[in-house]
Amino acid sequence: MPDTGMPEHVAIVMDGNGRWAEQRRRSRSWGHQAGLKALRRTARHGTEIGIRILTVFAFSSENWNRPAIEVSRLMDLFMSALEKEVKGLHENGVKVRFIGDLSGFKPELQDRILAAQELTAGNTRSQLNVAANYGGRWDIVNAARTLAEQVRAGELDPADIDEGRFSAGLALPDTPDPDLFIRTGGEMRISNFLLWQSAYTEFYFSDVLWPDFDGDELDRAVEAYRRRERRYGMTGKQVRDRAHA
Ligand code: FPP
Repeated sequence: MPDTGMPEHVAIVMDGNGRWAEQRRRSRSWGHQAGLKALRRTARHGTEIGIRILTVFAFSSENWNRPAIEVSRLMDLFMSALEKEVKGLHENGVKVRFIGDLSGFKPELQDRILAAQELTAGNTRSQLNVAANYGGRWDIVNAARTLAEQVRAGELDPADIDEGRFSAGLALPDTPDPDLFIRTGGEMRISNFLLWQSAYTEFYFSDVLWPDFDGDELDRAVEAYRRRERRYGMTGKQVRDRAHA
């Protein structure tokens, strides 16, 4: 049986907060608060088992279409999470980065995000990327625009555009692509998360609603990942021969 080793970078779509709260006859916002606790547990366990990079989908470009009260409470949750969590993350050597169109957020939230990034920029133990007002298509369009501007400025010949140069314009240019993509909440779709970056990522879908996710669930996802054979378009034999070379 293959052992693919530990995933270095895990991406998570934290789905199911609303349903978890509704099952308990509470507001969806209460579910998001429980989701934040699940994120804290999962990030801590991830660091303990050697996952170096965690990228979570906290707010998609499409989430603005939710009821105004839910959006407003989510913004409050982000504000208070940034106030309460960043110090602990910093003390634990976690570098925090936000990806997405931050200009969509109110200035106070943008300021807190920038302060969190600045404070933790030098940390190297692990990295938490929070996707907020993020969309995979937005990311790709941004990269295309960056390249187009370089061409217009005469700095780049279109013939020299390749995958490496394109990736350099994406939101996580200096981060390896996710090895493992987890989605909770029973849905099996990518929902415009890291579209380009997930080209060779292994997918793991869990029926568990995100507020119930914990270290044991993460271990299950990692175990499933480790049993996968990552072939990158090669045959299984080629992969095994390379591993033993
Ligand atoms: C999806 O569940 C979850 C969200 C849109 C929000 C996720 C946010 C958090 C867990 C808080 C994280 C906070 C920080 C600062 C990173 P859903 O509401 O779509 O659930 P449903 O599918 O059951 O309706």
